[in-house]
Amino acid sequence: MLFDSHHRKINYLRLAVTDRCNLRCFYCMPEQGNDWLSRRELMSYEEMLRVCSVLVQMGIEKIRITGGEPFVRKDMLQFLASLTALPHLQQVSITTNGVVTAPLVPELKKLGINSINLSLDTLDRDRFFAITRRDELPRVLETLEALLHHQLEVKINAVVMEGKNTQDILPLVELTKDLPVSVRFIEEMPFNGGGQAVPTLAWDHFRILEAIQERYPEVQKVPDPANSTAYHYHIPGHQGSIGIIAAYTRSFCGTCNRLRLTPQGDMKTCLYGGPVLNVRDLMRSGIPDNQLQEALQIAVSQKEKDGWEAEKAMSAFPHASMATIGG
Ligand code: GTP
Ligand code: 5AD
Ligand code: SF4
Repeated sequence: MLFDSHHRKINYLRLAVTDRCNLRCFYCMPEQGNDWLSRRELMSYEEMLRVCSVLVQMGIEKIRITGGEPFVRKDMLQFLASLTALPHLQQVSITTNGVVTAPLVPELKKLGINSINLSLDTLDRDRFFAITRRDELPRVLETLEALLHHQLEVKINAVVMEGKNTQDILPLVELTKDLPVSVRFIEEMPFNGGGQAVPTLAWDHFRILEAIQERYPEVQKVPDPANSTAYHYHIPGHQGSIGIIAAYTRSFCGTCNRLRLTPQGDMKTCLYGGPVLNVRDLMRSGIPDNQLQEALQIAVSQKEKDGWEAEKAMSAFPHASMATIGG
């Protein structure tokens, strides 16, 4: 098992497989996109598989694949097949925007990938275009349908933004009436790519809950699973559930069980703060597995106690795009 210096068990890796994306959500990146990494800068599939295998041997039990958009990287399914075959890895899950995912769903199911987080901020085509700068809502809805048809566990992620999609809160909540989905509303974080203004948070988790309670006074708080990022709610009689992720106003640090790897192999032990190790360069220098393991162990032992507090002190600084750190 893997522990940090603050007695936290570290068993969850978020692996960002690409910084590229087929959408341009304004809260994540500028219109022209980011300065994309070159092929050579990215970790290869072999490198990602190797570092994952070493981390699983050390105690990682769950790997979430993120991006950018994971499925814009070529041959992702082959990589997922190798990853799900790693012995002792209990869960592989994916966060996707759903633009190109629908046709892949049967294969994901076959690989034993049972849980998908789908980014979907609105059910209205014009607002979807205004937020993502692409007219792709129909394809995302096809993905939602395919996921439900193949009985994968689905969490919908909706970032709540003043003037953009607050009118979508109730329609998204209504999805939970007949569909077994968890709809999660996320406070907007200042990770929108350098140069853009840091948003002021108009909709925090209290305000989101109030909007839901106004229409559904019977909404109930239900227990939160360990290490969960969301506060969980349920409307009696509904098949699905509701989550509110106070990503901006609340610290998850006390129970944090995560490590992050960026597409270029930077290990981050906190969403905030810089990289502590580059595993791509270590592997390219020819390091054997036992030394890679030692380097990873040292990095984990340096995991900060509360990166969120430190972040708050410097929140005037521009932030990287979420797509470059994997969310
Ligand atoms: P599961 O618990 O595995 O479903 O994943 P998740 O909810 O952490 O992952 P997902 O990729 O769906 O992210 C949902 C939101 O939570 C995104 O806006 C993330 O950026 C945010 N998030 C994920 N991890 C952290 C974290 O460590 N700290 C903070 N503040 N936000 C996070
Ligand atoms: N604030 C909050 N959530 C964000 N995401 C991307 N950028 C931001 C941001 N600035 C979310 C996406 C995706 C998840 C991985 O991160 O909507 O669902
Ligand atoms: Fe792409 Fe996700 Fe960023 Fe939107 S939030 S641009 S879907 S990586």
